[in-house]
Amino acid sequence: MPNLDKFIISFDHALRTLLTPAQTLRPVPGTQLPEVGLNDSEKHESAALMRINHTGEICAQALYQGQALTARNVEVQHTLAQAAREETEHLAWTERRIAELSGRKSILNPLWYGGSFAIGALAGVLGDKWNLGFLAETERQVTAHLAGHLKRLPHHDGKSRAIVAQMQIDEAGHATSAMSHGGVELPMPVKLMMNLGSKVMTGTAYWV
Ligand SMILES: [Fe+2]
Ligand SMILES: [Fe+2]
Repeated sequence: MPNLDKFIISFDHALRTLLTPAQTLRPVPGTQLPEVGLNDSEKHESAALMRINHTGEICAQALYQGQALTARNVEVQHTLAQAAREETEHLAWTERRIAELSGRKSILNPLWYGGSFAIGALAGVLGDKWNLGFLAETERQVTAHLAGHLKRLPHHDGKSRAIVAQMQIDEAGHATSAMSHGGVELPMPVKLMMNLGSKVMTGTAYWV
């Protein structure tokens, strides 16, 4: 059962995720690439897509926190913590790129965090195999979503593309790791509902 300490730690993590800049150990992908001139509409498009990805990473932080709060097995908690560290780096990378593009983060991030935390906690309560299965499916859907962004990003925006490409590699690794730790395939209606939920998030974050 989660205890009060865990709740306090989770609350602290939520505040830090939403209010302070994220840190990264790995260098930001694409740092070595030159900043090419993007016209106004390209810049706007890149910033909007990176805002979506940033909000996705806010959701990832919340999901992992929620899942870790209710996960039972210590090894599962460890797997979640390892992946969460990489998600924090993704958060830092997207945040930095949004600033470089003179964009802004979604004002609805606290809302997305709260909802994702609740979903993650619920997945954890259902037991480790479902928790890991949910994680794997989430990461697979994110990987597919990032592939779509690589098609939509302005072709010469190498810096944004490098970040998205590395995130895609990491997310696929999270999915594989979750399944190798005992995750199970979710029923198709659940997968479809997850897909619908993420479409609402991505569609909204493009604008606000
Ligand atoms: Fe991520
Ligand atoms: Fe991930």
